[in-house]
Amino acid sequence: MRECVLFYFLALCSAKPFILPPKYMAMTDLILNDMEDDNDDDDEKDDDDNNSLFPFKRNTPIRPTPPPFDIFPTCPFGCQCYLRVVQCSDLGLTAIPNKIPYDTRLLDLQNNKIKEVKEKDLQGLSSLYALFLNNNKVHKVHPKAFQSMKKLRRLYFSHNQLTEIPSNLPTSLAELRIHDNKVKKVQKGAFKGMESLHVLEMSANPLENDGIEPGAFDGLTVYHVRIAEAKLTSIPKGLPSSIYELHLDHNKISAVELEDLLRYQELKRLGLGHNKIKEVENGSLSNIPNIREIHLENNKLKKVPPGLQDLKYLQVIFLHSNNIAKVEVNDFCSTTPKLKKSLYSGISLFGNPVKYWEVQPATFRCTLGRNSIHLGNFRK
Ligand SMILES: *[C@@H]1O[C@H](CO)[C@@H](O)[C@H](O)[C@H]1NC(C)=O
Ligand SMILES: *[C@@H]1O[C@H](CO)[C@@H](O)[C@H](O)[C@H]1NC(C)=O
Repeated sequence: MRECVLFYFLALCSAKPFILPPKYMAMTDLILNDMEDDNDDDDEKDDDDNNSLFPFKRNTPIRPTPPPFDIFPTCPFGCQCYLRVVQCSDLGLTAIPNKIPYDTRLLDLQNNKIKEVKEKDLQGLSSLYALFLNNNKVHKVHPKAFQSMKKLRRLYFSHNQLTEIPSNLPTSLAELRIHDNKVKKVQKGAFKGMESLHVLEMSANPLENDGIEPGAFDGLTVYHVRIAEAKLTSIPKGLPSSIYELHLDHNKISAVELEDLLRYQELKRLGLGHNKIKEVENGSLSNIPNIREIHLENNKLKKVPPGLQDLKYLQVIFLHSNNIAKVEVNDFCSTTPKLKKSLYSGISLFGNPVKYWEVQPATFRCTLGRNSIHLGNFRK
């Protein structure tokens, strides 16, 4: 009983701290409800001595009447199961274990050696909310592997060996991470029906522009897309028009062309640092009137991108480490008074061959102050 109380106390701490629990049962409900939003902190309460691997020692009750429930009747060998969280990370597993309780909400299988997700591996796990398979050796996912899942919100596949996006992913996903795999192809309809995806992380894959099939992103609503450290040579044109954050840094993009940003009118942050961009075509930036932040550092730009002065909300523009030799007085700020709705809080120009002493102070008339401008070669 003492162990039970301790266990619950710890569990409750990570949930809502100051709610007086009326009964044991009500308390479990409370914790389980909370998991929906707060399930990342599942591994911080298993460090007490008689740990949660066997948290109920019912055969030696110190006090009478242990609580009348049994929330984890089965648990895969070696894993820890509590509060519908099944924790099987770092066990050297080569396959997904069986006997995973059907009501599991979070299944943590990271840091193992799992090679494959087979058809029946996850069968019946209809309550699953988060599945962590990152850092394994998965190269194959059965097209029906996710069939049971209607509530899966987070799927982490980073650091595996996938060569394409697994097919028939649950449409309920909010976050999909496939960082550092071997994905060369994003097939047509790969994300079909996903209307509540918030984050799509596909960086560090050998993905070229041709690898993105036409229609690959059809039917997808997503806000934050990252395809950094890939092999893109231009901004992909077929991404969902809903995106407001796009990160394409560390690619091989050589220019920003007129029609490149046409679809992405909602864009608020654009990351294009560490590419080979020589030119931003005049007019291309006018397609993204709501942009707040643009990163173009470590490229090959010879001048300040045209059109910055018309972006009313632009606050941060990184241009350091380029080949910019001249900065004109109206490159950043408009000649139309009051056009700008937000002043700049960050302009970086260091690491360029510009003669800083020749830049007129009025160039920065629409910034928050001196500290917003990084001009000199202070990195050298
Ligand atoms: C852990 O459990 C064992 C077996 O029930 C018991 O003998 C031991 O005293 C417990 N240790 C602690 C620190 O509670
Ligand atoms: C860019 O285009 C606008 C509108 O067509 C024009 O007014 C402006 O002078 C051009 N800027 C450059 C640098 O060519």
